[in-house]
Amino acid sequence: MNIFKNAVAVLGLFFLAATANAASEAPFPADWQKWNSVSTTLTKIGALPGCDANVSSLPPIYQETVATYCNVKQGGPGKVAVLVNPAVKAGYDARNGKMPEGPAMILHLKEMKVLFVTGYKGGKAQYGIYTEEGKDISTASGPLSAETCRTCHTGYTSFCVNGQCGKVAK
Ligand code: HEC
Repeated sequence: MNIFKNAVAVLGLFFLAATANAASEAPFPADWQKWNSVSTTLTKIGALPGCDANVSSLPPIYQETVATYCNVKQGGPGKVAVLVNPAVKAGYDARNGKMPEGPAMILHLKEMKVLFVTGYKGGKAQYGIYTEEGKDISTASGPLSAETCRTCHTGYTSFCVNGQCGKVAK
């Protein structure tokens, strides 16, 4: 019995170690091209700039976002769009943190052809990084890791509500 228990524990640890290693948490939204693009603070700015841009007039969370991603590509990641799953529109607009299960929102880095995906499981935000075709390109650490997404998306409590940081801009 003890041996059996130990084997289960070891298998459990192995599984945790394996999943902790560079796997997107949020699933790939295969129908992302049908999602609604919304106008937000960031999409009004239009693009994530390069590292030499002066972003001192932006709120600190936007400054940190630029600092985190400005060197993933020469000149910065570039044009962005925010896409919202039609199924979560009510929650997105209300910014009340109540999101149905599954992929919910996308920050589309259009020039990099990369999708930053936020989804929900058991009401909790989860993060994923994919190519437009659905290849998982998340890494275990650094700017493309779910941990980095989570740190910022939960670190600015006055700004982000249960993983949602942006809102519809008028
Ligand atoms: C340093 C801070 C920061 C990091 C790191 C970060 N984000 Fe964001 N993210 C933001 C901000 C700020 C917005 C809102 C932009 C706007 O005005 O639309 C945003 C928007 C988003 C959106 C659109 C929905 C929303 O919350 O407004 C998604 C989806 C998203 N991020 C996913 C990710 C994923 C996935 C990662 C990790 C690969 C990530 N983010 C890393 C700050 C960050």
